[in-house]
Amino acid sequence: MARKRYAQVGLGLRSWLFSLAVVRDHTEQAELVGLCDVNAGRLAHRVDWARGAGASAPGYAAEDFDRMLIETRPDCVIVTTPDRDHAAYVCRAMEHGCDVISEKPLTIDAPSLQRILDTERATGRRCRVAFNYRYSPYRAQVKQLLASGAIGQVLSVDFHWLLDTRHGADYFRRWHREKQSSGGLLVHKATHHFDLVNWWLDSVPSAVQASGGRGYYTPATAERLGLTSRSERCLDCAPAAQCPFRLDLRAEKLLAVTYLDHEDHDGYFRDQCVFSDQIDIEDTMTVLVDYRSGARMSYSLNAAVPREGYSVAFNGTLGRLDHVCEESSYVSGSSPVSGAMDEEKTRITLQPHFERAREIPIDATGGSHGGGDALLLADLFAETTEHDPLGRAADHRAGAWSILTGIAANRSIASGERVVVDELVEGLELP
Ligand SMILES: NC(=O)c1ccc[n+]([C@@H]2O[C@H](COP(=O)([O-])OP(=O)(O)OC[C@H]3O[C@@H](n4cnc5c(N)ncnc54)[C@H](O)[C@@H]3O)[C@@H](O)[C@H]2O)c1
Repeated sequence: MARKRYAQVGLGLRSWLFSLAVVRDHTEQAELVGLCDVNAGRLAHRVDWARGAGASAPGYAAEDFDRMLIETRPDCVIVTTPDRDHAAYVCRAMEHGCDVISEKPLTIDAPSLQRILDTERATGRRCRVAFNYRYSPYRAQVKQLLASGAIGQVLSVDFHWLLDTRHGADYFRRWHREKQSSGGLLVHKATHHFDLVNWWLDSVPSAVQASGGRGYYTPATAERLGLTSRSERCLDCAPAAQCPFRLDLRAEKLLAVTYLDHEDHDGYFRDQCVFSDQIDIEDTMTVLVDYRSGARMSYSLNAAVPREGYSVAFNGTLGRLDHVCEESSYVSGSSPVSGAMDEEKTRITLQPHFERAREIPIDATGGSHGGGDALLLADLFAETTEHDPLGRAADHRAGAWSILTGIAANRSIASGERVVVDELVEGLELP
């Protein structure tokens, strides 16, 4: 079988997962043929690395993306740029006849999502969204229990996600902190959570009401902590030594070689102040969602909590299913295993009506994102034809439905109104 040809655009930290999968782990099925980034330093570094690993993948500047597709003829383009640029690259790749693998979120707002839907229909190309959270074994257990009818029809969901002051703060340091770049945490982060709910319930959202604001990552909190005379980044900030949020790029080797060494090319500072008054995303959000299945969800996302993890409970016509998970705290790039679950503190509890609650033994696999990353990569690149009864492979439809809850929530926060999801885009089919 001929190897599938991949090009990749956006070569920051997350992109390594995909570069390594193609160049090192799935070489029988996959071949890296082109690399593209807006930062000439990061681009040269990755091209050199690929060459050293045996892959001949020329580098292209961002303005030469189309030329890369013409010259290197990839079958599939992997999009790992910041969220704001996903839609443009997804569409251009499909227009050139390529399939696409996009990091989550598929995109950040309704107009760019409509462009993706229209382009997918016009070109007939395939777009997959890399939802690693679906692949964590214990989340698959929840899916299996619900699908087995263990609690009957799901009437309501209580879902609460906590980001601690280490991981949560990391969204306030760079492009994530601008709504126009990430869609805010209700799109950027909660796309994972809303996708899980759509997948768990086998349904899609119909209406959304939300409220949210920024109450912690503010100049006022910095003043309360005694952090006066701050600068815009940690590297040259006078009170950095007293700041519990200091990110020392020189002390974190991976962050230094990925960002600090190349910042002269584009002025992208990885360590901007988490208390900046330029931040315009929320850190505290609550959302009410109605689903087509008739289920209702109350959801919250808090980004400044002393611990990391989530709790989700499903109330059904035959009982209740509880799942709690505590995860390790991390800053992207500072730890080899990001988002690992704590086995001791991860539980699934099933309680049918009129019976005692019983613990379901957890299927625990080590690794980043609860073991989800490795399984996702195998599914994306190993070209297996085996049927997956869990239906974990997510295409543009699942990617779209997962962001529509957050896009609707953003509109609801801005307007104070309840938002009907069907009115946001046209021509979107069920996953
Ligand atoms: N699934 C997960 O668990 C997970 C985890 C982390 C990040 N992500 C996603 O991965 C993507 C990348 O995140 P990251 O943390 O690596 O970001 P990053 O900022 O570290 O890297 C982005 C890269 O894209 C490049 N870039 C910026 N604008 C570009 C443009 N217009 N054209 C080409 N290249 C451009 C930058 O120079 C940089 O090299 C995001 O979409 C993010 O949401 C997913």
